[in-house]
Amino acid sequence: MDEALIKAALAVLDANWTGRFTRPSARLYPHQWSWDAAFIAIGYAHVLPERAEQELRSLFAGQWRNGLLPHIVFHEPSGDYFPGPEVWEVTCNPDAPSNPPTSGIVQPPNHAITAWRLYRHARDRASARRFLAALYPRLKAWHDYLYRERDPFHEGLVYIRHPWESGMDNAPLWDQPLSRIAADGPLPFQRVDKQVVNPADRPTDTDYARYLHLVALFKACRYEEARIRERCPFLIQDVLFNTLLCQAERDLAEIARVIGEDPEPHETRASLTAAAINRKLWDDAHGLYVDYDLVAERPLDVHVVAGFIPLFAGIPSPAQARRMCAYLDSRSFCRLGDRCYAVPSYDKQARGFSRQRYWRGPVWINMNWLLYQGLQRYGEREYAAWVRNAIIDLPRRYGFYEYYDPEAGCGHGADRFSWTAALLLDVLYTCRSETVPPS
Ligand code: SER
Repeated sequence: MDEALIKAALAVLDANWTGRFTRPSARLYPHQWSWDAAFIAIGYAHVLPERAEQELRSLFAGQWRNGLLPHIVFHEPSGDYFPGPEVWEVTCNPDAPSNPPTSGIVQPPNHAITAWRLYRHARDRASARRFLAALYPRLKAWHDYLYRERDPFHEGLVYIRHPWESGMDNAPLWDQPLSRIAADGPLPFQRVDKQVVNPADRPTDTDYARYLHLVALFKACRYEEARIRERCPFLIQDVLFNTLLCQAERDLAEIARVIGEDPEPHETRASLTAAAINRKLWDDAHGLYVDYDLVAERPLDVHVVAGFIPLFAGIPSPAQARRMCAYLDSRSFCRLGDRCYAVPSYDKQARGFSRQRYWRGPVWINMNWLLYQGLQRYGEREYAAWVRNAIIDLPRRYGFYEYYDPEAGCGHGADRFSWTAALLLDVLYTCRSETVPPS
């Protein structure tokens, strides 16, 4: 049974592989996306390790001279994807490469996490070490950029300045901060995404007007961070982004050890970030982590699945973790044994919950993958198995979709979505190797 599922997952990745990188999905996302690439490489690690390395090499070909790792790299002519390089116009900043063209924002930093896994799964450790040695300066420059440019108060917490930077584009988290941006009238551009998939699955036109307003602001500031920071109405210290950075710094320390570099600065930054997440982003009234709005100078009281992801990086204490699990195992998310798929991306009882609209409720496989490992880390085996079950069952029953209805299970958004296939492969292979007795 699993063999057939593995074959189907590989077929999705093969269909989206271009020879240099993997498209997240052929029509909706025809370029290379940053955190997608890192999730996709995790799946390849088990079956096609050279493709996993190529995936990361191609992504880092778009890195800026100041270390910024862009959220999209346009290796091929942009076709009808919107917004393409002619909208981003990043070459107004001398740090941006002219080839390949890129966007001018980032996505969550899961890349060192992937690189370290590639090494751990590698059969040829010497070759994997050479790969790590070549990638290390780029990973370090990426994290240095974040701590240097995005942490103005040296708190150990970096900010995002666009909803797309969170990876969770239209999460209810952003409703309040985005309301500071006026967006009236018809859109002055054509949204291709609404022609490719059901418009009801996607962010609204008002969301898009605001997304593009922010891009225009970045261009007006020539992508200079200090100028952006002064003028940007959207500056958020995001739980998911900082959690992944914390784990990525820990993994970068491991990488440094393997290649004979100094792990200490990475360990120090990871500890600083973990402590800051606990100090500033823990919501003791509800038992999960919440984002902080730097413009309004207050926490965002919005409960999304990302609020549980600090489990992945071992950030909560055991007592905090128990409270988080109790919240997950409730009517707000998905109670063990109930007729629902774990884990909805937004509190089901909160205002604006939707079973189908992108990040406003559907189940996402990447979130489940992070949460599954976090729950295992804290010994929450029953709920971990529940989440793992959804990672396997949803694609098996409904296909390799971008996201799923937490009640009906059916898929939404892009079909044949790469990270759904890749992370399913990881779960299937990791479990296999766990059950193989040592030789
Ligand atoms: N995920 C966004 C998109 O829809 C932004 O990269 O293209």
